[in-house]
Amino acid sequence: MSRGATQEGTKKYAAKFRGAAAEGHFREAQGLTISSLGAGTYLGQPNENMDAGYAAALVAAVENGINVIDSAINYRFQRSERSVGTAVKVLANKGFAREEVVVCTKGGYLTPDGTMPADPNRYFFEEYIQKGIFSAKEIAAGSHCMAPRFLENQLGRSLKNLGVECVDVYYLHNPETQLSEIPKADFLGRIREAFLFLESEAARGRIQYYGMATWNGFRQNASAGDAMQLAEIANLAKEIAGEQHRFRFVQLPYNLAMTEALTLGNQTVGGNTKTMMEAAGELGITLIASAALLQGQVAQNLPAFVAEALGLENDVERALQFARSSPGIATALVGMSRVAHVEANTRLVGRAPAGIEEFNKLFSRGEGV
Ligand SMILES: NC(=O)c1ccc[n+]([C@@H]2O[C@H](COP(=O)([O-])OP(=O)(O)OC[C@H]3O[C@@H](n4cnc5c(N)ncnc54)[C@H](OP(=O)(O)O)[C@@H]3O)[C@@H](O)[C@H]2O)c1
Repeated sequence: MSRGATQEGTKKYAAKFRGAAAEGHFREAQGLTISSLGAGTYLGQPNENMDAGYAAALVAAVENGINVIDSAINYRFQRSERSVGTAVKVLANKGFAREEVVVCTKGGYLTPDGTMPADPNRYFFEEYIQKGIFSAKEIAAGSHCMAPRFLENQLGRSLKNLGVECVDVYYLHNPETQLSEIPKADFLGRIREAFLFLESEAARGRIQYYGMATWNGFRQNASAGDAMQLAEIANLAKEIAGEQHRFRFVQLPYNLAMTEALTLGNQTVGGNTKTMMEAAGELGITLIASAALLQGQVAQNLPAFVAEALGLENDVERALQFARSSPGIATALVGMSRVAHVEANTRLVGRAPAGIEEFNKLFSRGEGV
């Protein structure tokens, strides 16, 4: 029995939508067949209503052509991961096997368990520091840690929350947070230690791939204090595990208001200036877009030229179409805690992604999107 998503399983999943899914909705990434839209689980209150909402939405997403699920241990204090776990179980009974779905999560932020404890400092002291899982000096910005012992603990918790034996993509969550406090060389040292651990977990089979889920780190000028160079980071993985390394996914915000991955030359690969999309392509890394609706901010009142270029029914569809059609984006994540939103967004499953000409119309006005 497979422990995670497989080439065969994800292919079989896509085949279930033959005829219903438009060409281009499913893509190949790192040997898996993945949908151009993915379901996110970030926003919302840590309560039972939201738990049930996400579980139902995730089931509906997989039933309607989305086989990428994105979570993080700290989302809604571990409750979002548990909603994913509920959905994975329900889906297995509905004929969607674990092998067909790409389950992704993240570690790095300290998080309580289910609810905010009355005394958070005491909780983290007793649960982590006293047990030797991290020391105070390994914490950055009061909330972030990448120490291997901590990641091992967090991965164990995530596997339990998700009810799976293997996480398909395990991301370091916003690692650039640490650059506000520690020098670049120390930062890269910590990344190296984290990658050593993640490669060992890949060898052990508790994760399939690993990556970085970022907010600012790959989206600003190379000179910014918390900017990261993908080639430098991929090189650490190569030094550890050679060409077969498992550092294969990067997540970054990408939407109609945040287009840097496509437009900003902030990366250097082999001495040449590149955009993130170009750099990731050269380095064999898959890019996943987060916040495809910018948390709802690009879901309405878009300028008329967007509709002229992309057509479609409404601005939500256009915003998602932009993210999933961009060259270099494998999957665009959209947070959905309501089945009605899943039903609306999966209408795009039956629509082909925008072609390059349609897409270029957006940028032909001179000032860009
Ligand atoms: N640094 C990181 O690692 C990072 C940062 C941000 C996001 N992410 C990932 O990316 C995912 C997507 O980003 P996000 O959730 O922050 O923001 P988003 O996807 O841009 O927006 C989610 C919001 O849009 C609403 N929505 C979805 N479909 C809609 C529709 N058809 N009509 C109207 N509203 C709709 C959702 O409502 P309902 O919930 O009510 O359905 C939710 O409030 C996250 O869930 C997370 O998995 C990662």
